[in-house]
Amino acid sequence: MPRLRTRPVRDGDDIRAFFDAIAREYHECHGDADRLLAYRLALARRLLAPVLGGTLLEIGCGPGTHLFGLAGDFATAIGADLSPAMIEVAERIRRTHRRAAHIALYIEAAERLAPIEDESVDAVLCVGAFEHMPAKAAVLAQVQRVLRPGGRFACLTLNGDALWYRQLASRLGYEVRHLSSDRFVGTAEMQALLAGAGLALAESGYWRFVARGDMPAWTARCLQWLDALGAVWRPGLFRGGLYVCAEKQQAVRADAASRPFARKETVAAARIVQPVRRASRSSW
Ligand SMILES: C[S@@+](CC[C@H](N)C(=O)[O-])C[C@H]1O[C@@H](n2cnc3c(N)ncnc32)[C@H](O)[C@@H]1O
Repeated sequence: MPRLRTRPVRDGDDIRAFFDAIAREYHECHGDADRLLAYRLALARRLLAPVLGGTLLEIGCGPGTHLFGLAGDFATAIGADLSPAMIEVAERIRRTHRRAAHIALYIEAAERLAPIEDESVDAVLCVGAFEHMPAKAAVLAQVQRVLRPGGRFACLTLNGDALWYRQLASRLGYEVRHLSSDRFVGTAEMQALLAGAGLALAESGYWRFVARGDMPAWTARCLQWLDALGAVWRPGLFRGGLYVCAEKQQAVRADAASRPFARKETVAAARIVQPVRRASRSSW
């Protein structure tokens, strides 16, 4: 397995061109595809459990592997990706999907999401794509815009705090970024980004990720040991994947909000006035 070489990029066009070029052959290269997919889907379902049955949007959906895997759990599933070639691959799969009529795909950057109306989705998912999105605050501002109050954002990305990404890889002469614009955030930065976008953290943790396809087998085996060690000790340092789940806060009723020193009460009152809109599966 040849070592990863980071490709220099200047702007979004270069990022799009990179993903366009790999779209047709894009496949799971970090382990057993079915097992890894089942693992990630189970995590996504757990994080998005309160909003299952509503509308799902996946940003950076690529060929739609996770989107199609979750389409049966939601009334509507929408995929958006910067790369026309990725969406072309996804569209071919969509046509034969048993829930094809409930799935929509858009060629669209996560920083814009122009076709998605304000407060129109219950869940936003991002898997293996946040690290490739240079304007992370702009992405989260869009996530906040399109989520309904009470809606959830689940993101599975790489753990920027991991010893491997922070120090070990460069010391051993490994490159870890596919694109020079890739950036892996750690827990503190992710939490600050979410707070800056007005999204309330519901859960944060680590998921099993070793970029086996990007390195020689012996290195991957060492990282798997580190990841396993991280599952029981110092996860922030040793685990390869970081996940977060955040919620868009319920709107606060104006008259209640104006009352001082009653924040808890205000939020509780707002929940009664404006419950989370959750379409049941049977209503679609
Ligand atoms: C590594 S692939 C992951 C695809 C898919 N989420 C999966 O897990 O199979 C990253 C995807 O993010 C997309 N992407 C990168 N930057 C993006 C952006 N700013 N907006 C939308 N999509 C983006 C790429 O085109 C690519 O399809």
